[in-house]
Amino acid sequence: MGAASSNLVELRDLKVAFDGVQVLHGINLDVRRGEALGLVGESGCGKSVTWLAALGLLPGKASVTGSVRLQGHEISGGTRESFERVRGGRIAMIFQDPSSSLNPVLRIGRQITEALAIHRGLKGEAGKAEALRLLDMVGIPDPRRRFDLYPHEFSGGQCQRLMIAMALAGEPDLLVADEPTTALDATIQAQILDLLIQLRAETGMATVFISHDLGAVSQVCERVCVMYAGRIVEEGTTAQLFSEPRHPYTRGLFDAIPRIDGPRQRLIPIPGTVPNPKHLPEGCAFSPRCSRAVEACRSERPPLLSLSDGRQLACTRPVPAEERAGTKSKVAEEMLQ
Ligand SMILES: Nc1ncnc2c1ncn2[C@@H]1O[C@H](COP(=O)(O)OP(=O)(O)OP(=O)(O)O)[C@@H](O)[C@H]1O
Ligand SMILES: [Mg+2]
Repeated sequence: MGAASSNLVELRDLKVAFDGVQVLHGINLDVRRGEALGLVGESGCGKSVTWLAALGLLPGKASVTGSVRLQGHEISGGTRESFERVRGGRIAMIFQDPSSSLNPVLRIGRQITEALAIHRGLKGEAGKAEALRLLDMVGIPDPRRRFDLYPHEFSGGQCQRLMIAMALAGEPDLLVADEPTTALDATIQAQILDLLIQLRAETGMATVFISHDLGAVSQVCERVCVMYAGRIVEEGTTAQLFSEPRHPYTRGLFDAIPRIDGPRQRLIPIPGTVPNPKHLPEGCAFSPRCSRAVEACRSERPPLLSLSDGRQLACTRPVPAEERAGTKSKVAEEMLQ
């Protein structure tokens, strides 16, 4: 039993390969009870695959190894049914595209009451009452009238809310939200973020928030994990990473964020592109794009190590701590306000 551990979920040495090409190279990650953890990194670095693998949602051709423990109980390598119980109940995942989770030919009320029946055994009037409460909770106006509508009768932002209501039906301990706002316009994005923050405060569920949007991550999460080319390269509190990124990649991600006010500055994009997992560079996978890289970086891959300030870092030539301390980036200050 994992009673001694405050970790809700523990991923250990999680690896994924598609057709013999490894895309995830041994992820070790803990999600603590009730915390909000952000997962960031450029497209293709393995953010979605990490959680799809952890929850048994990858297609059969994917080869997955490693351990996934939920409150100390191993859930990887289990049967399909055991995964489904975990997924619908203890851990729920929502995606960028609500149409992947909502059934277009079933009325919304029925979809939510079915989820309530499966996960919580609520039937009849009790199920309907709870479904209405969930719709109200996620901010669907006039839920009683909308109960019998079909998904296409809702806007994109409302569909995202419906998907969150479905995810909440099982009263999950963890909600994994994979780019839940990228398809929405800025105003609706902000509303959905507020909703996620509010729901977490009300229910105490942990949240894993996967996003390209570092601003959104800083609003929602206390801790951030940065991935590159199928590995974690830096992990720390949001305050640590925003005020003092040590990995040149983390720093590059922050330098590429537009500033809200102040003098207009050129954004500094990270040169180059994410490597193809089939042809990963020798040594540190980021070294060909890294302005700080030296010869050693191109021959030896630095392991992920814990620093004295509590963060984890995989870098041979990190951004010096002092250099950043005096010149705390304005972007970071704005974001942490
Ligand atoms: N079903 C699949 N079959 C083959 N390769 C896949 C599959 N799913 C993902 N990959 C590969 O795995 C790697 C990691 O993909 P993943 O979807 O996790 O990236 P991501 O970080 O979520 O990116 P994005 O920000 O674009 O969502 C990529 O190289 C991708 O091409
Ligand atoms: Mg993804």
